[in-house]
Amino acid sequence: MGVEVRVEGLSMSFGGRPVWSDISLTLPAGEISALLGPSGTGKSVFLKTLVGLLRPDRGAIWIGDRDLCRLRERDLYEVRRLFGVLFQDGALFGSMNVYDNVAFPLREHTKLKESAIKAMVQEKLELVGLTGAEEKLPGQISGGMRKRAGLARALVLDPQIMLFDEPDSGLDPVRTAYLNQLIIDLNQRTGATFLIVTHDINTARTVPDNIGLIYHGHLAMFGPREMLLSSAEPAVRQFLTAQRIGPIGMAEEKDADEWESEYVANVPLPPIPGQLQPSDGLARAAERPPGRWCADNGVEPPPGSFSELAVRP
Ligand SMILES: Nc1ncnc2c1ncn2[C@@H]1O[C@H](COP(=O)(O)OP(=O)(O)OP(=O)(O)O)[C@@H](O)[C@H]1O
Ligand SMILES: [Mg+2]
Repeated sequence: MGVEVRVEGLSMSFGGRPVWSDISLTLPAGEISALLGPSGTGKSVFLKTLVGLLRPDRGAIWIGDRDLCRLRERDLYEVRRLFGVLFQDGALFGSMNVYDNVAFPLREHTKLKESAIKAMVQEKLELVGLTGAEEKLPGQISGGMRKRAGLARALVLDPQIMLFDEPDSGLDPVRTAYLNQLIIDLNQRTGATFLIVTHDINTARTVPDNIGLIYHGHLAMFGPREMLLSSAEPAVRQFLTAQRIGPIGMAEEKDADEWESEYVANVPLPPIPGQLQPSDGLARAAERPPGRWCADNGVEPPPGSFSELAVRP
């Protein structure tokens, strides 16, 4: 079963330049959360901070009663075993073939015999559709295959917390659909806690249970999907509807006068779609009735929401 990750007042800077400040959020155990934000706002830095690869300036990351930011290196090594991370670039070792890359965490963190390692590596490679590519070097396979090899490696220790940094970037739409389905199925089967960084609006609208947006050095909003998908907050609305009109500009934030002059209030939000469902026909790990959050919070969802109740695979 997954574990809850509670982030409190986290701040990070490089050389005195803040990346983001005062981020607080809770990744609920066993649920899928997505993190969005313009390029360069520090989403990858956030994931690296969560696994303890980067030390924040301030704040705490609670897993149970342990604060990752206060752990000694040896204890941190232990806690890292809870995590599986798919880095943005796959982060495979270029001189190791696919098999050895996937086997690496098992050889590093366990004392399993090679025969046991082989069975586990082959199981994960089959899961991501890479059976037969064991002997290939990362430079000899496509970008999409490297992503899937990175995913197999991230999964090999059966982590309780899975972090995915843009699993869908550089994939064609069909492979993105397969990958999203794989994410839903993995979450349902393992019950692990998932955090996905994505730029894909379709992924953001149909895959997660919770959505967050980092913008302007802060966490603009984090909460249940229905909260963000019905939100009138300009940056959230602009991002989740992929529009040019709003406070987010090409290079940085637009100044307020600029976007207010182009902003048309009351442009209807698109309907909230159903969530992608597991392929075995069972419920998602954190299934909630569509519209429940809106009803409980007195929020009128955009017209036409939930008319298609579930996105079937
Ligand atoms: N190790 C580092 N040392 C110094 N600066 C860094 C380091 N890692 C990241 N940065 C800076 O932190 C900022 C955030 O980078 P990050 O890679 O987290 O952005 P991102 O939101 O993941 O962007 P993208 O959507 O393009 O992947 C950038 O300005 C980057 O240059
Ligand atoms: Mg990134």
